[in-house]
Amino acid sequence: MLSPAARNRNKPMATPKGSASSTGPTGFAKKSLLDYVASQRSGFEKTLRELVETPSVSADPQHQTDVAEVVSRAADLMQRMGGEARVIDTGGHPMLHGRFEQNPEYPTVTVYNHLDVQPAEIADGWHTEPFRFIAQGDRYWGRGTTDDKGPALTALWGAKYALAHGARVNINFLWEAEEEIGSPNFEATIKREKDRLATDSVVVSDTVWVSRSRPACPAGLRGLQGFRFTLETGETDQHSGTSGGAARNPVAELCQLIAECFDAKTGEVKIPGFYDAVVEPTPAEIRDLKKSGFSTATFKKDHQFKSLRVTDPVEVMKRIWCMPTFEVHGIAGGYHGPGVKTVVPPRATAIVSCRLVPDMDGRTIAKLVKQFVKERNPDVKVQAEHALPPYQGQTEGPHPDAIRAAMKFAFGKDPVFVREGGSIGAVVSMEKVLKVPVFFLGLSLPEHGYHAPNENYDWQQAEGGMIAFADYFRRVAEMATGD
Ligand code: BES
Ligand code: MN
Ligand code: MN
Repeated sequence: MLSPAARNRNKPMATPKGSASSTGPTGFAKKSLLDYVASQRSGFEKTLRELVETPSVSADPQHQTDVAEVVSRAADLMQRMGGEARVIDTGGHPMLHGRFEQNPEYPTVTVYNHLDVQPAEIADGWHTEPFRFIAQGDRYWGRGTTDDKGPALTALWGAKYALAHGARVNINFLWEAEEEIGSPNFEATIKREKDRLATDSVVVSDTVWVSRSRPACPAGLRGLQGFRFTLETGETDQHSGTSGGAARNPVAELCQLIAECFDAKTGEVKIPGFYDAVVEPTPAEIRDLKKSGFSTATFKKDHQFKSLRVTDPVEVMKRIWCMPTFEVHGIAGGYHGPGVKTVVPPRATAIVSCRLVPDMDGRTIAKLVKQFVKERNPDVKVQAEHALPPYQGQTEGPHPDAIRAAMKFAFGKDPVFVREGGSIGAVVSMEKVLKVPVFFLGLSLPEHGYHAPNENYDWQQAEGGMIAFADYFRRVAEMATGD
C-alpha cells in the first residue's frame, strides 16, 4: 500500500528497489553506529564550520545575502550527500527542501530545522568571535552551533547512516531561514508547496533538554504574541530645565504603562481576561515535572542568573513551561551616553511579548492588550507582531514510543516528556497544512546558551543525536511495514 505521502505526490513513481516484504534491518548495531559517527566527525565539524561562519541573521537586513548563502550551501551539501535539493522562494528568506527518496511505497518522514540565527556581537560578552566556529575539545562555539545548525546537521548525518543501511523510509528535510523572526512566510509557502512537501510525519530538532543527564522531549511548546509600544509626545529633545514639569515624558509614561500591565516582581499579569483560557497542568503533568531532573540551582547556573522570582523547582518549571508571561525585551528612548544630558526625550519605544500556553489565542490576547493600553494611555500606539500559537504535542502512540526507544538506544536513558517554554512557529503550520503529526527529537542543552553569548554545541550531543536519528528513521520504517 502506498503511504499517504506517496499517494499525494504528484509525480511518476520510481521503480521500487525492494518490496516492503524484503528483509531490512531489524535493529542497528550500536558498535557499527559508533564506528560510523567516529569516522564522520571531521566531515561533520567541517560542515558545521561552513554553516556557522555564514552569519545568517534573519532579523538583520544587512545579512540578507548571508541568509541566502547559508541556504544555498545547505542545498549543495544535500546534493553532495546524494539527495535532491530545491531552494524555495518564500517572498522573504528562502527555504530548503531536501529529499532522499528511495521508494514511493516507503513512508516519508520530514525533518524540520532552521538555518537562520539570532544576532550576535562580540560586545555582548562573547569570549570568541560569534561567527567563527571554534572547536575546543568536544565543544563547538559560535552563533547557531546549537540553535539550530548543529542539530540540523546531526539529523542529516543520522539519515545518511539509516539510508545507507537499508532503512525503508524516504527522508526529507525542510530547512527554514525565517524561524528567528517568527516564520512570517512559512505557512503561506508550505500551503503553496503542499503537494511537493507531502509527508507522513514530521520530526523537529530545535528544543532543549532539562539537563545533560537525561534526554527530554517536548510535550508542548508555548506560543508567542509580540508587541511594539510607541509613544511620541514631541518632535525633538528639549531642555528639561525649560520644559520639564510641564512636558510629558514618553520614556516614563511607557514605564508606567508597562508597570500597569504586569507586576514585575511577581510576574503576575494585570490585564483583565489574560489568564482566562489557560489550561493548568494536570496532576500527571506535575508528577512528570517532579521526575524531570530539573534543579533550580542548575537552572540558575546554566542561565547565569543571580536570582529568580521563585525558587521552588516545581514553581519554576510551571512558570517557564506551563504559564503565560508578559515580558519586556527592551525600552528605547532618551539619553544613554556618558555624563549628563538633561533632556526631555520626544519619543520612546518598548518591545514586549507574551508567551502563550494552551488554549490561549494570540488574537484574543492582542485585543486585550490593545484595549487595556487604550484605557490607560490612549496616546500609546500598539503594534501586534509575530503571532505564534501554542502547541500541544503527543506523548503516546507509535511515534513518541519510537522517539523514546531511539533516545534510550542512543543515550542510555529514557527521555522525560515535559513542555517547552520556547516557540517554533512552523510546528503548528506544518500540522495544519501538511495534515500530519509533528514530533520532537531535540538535542540542545541548557548550558549551550540558546540566544546567549558563547552559544555552543558539543560532540556528545551530535554523536548521540546521529545515533538517535538513525535509529528513529529505522523504527519509523519498520512501523509502516509492521516488522
Ligand atoms: N529553538 C527555539 C525555540 C525554543 C526555545 C524551543 C527554547 C525550546 C526552548 C527557536 O529558535 C526560537 O528561539 N524561537 C523564538 C521565536 C521568536 C524569535 C519569534 C522564541 O521562542 O522566542
Ligand atoms: Mn531554534
Ligand atoms: Mn532560536
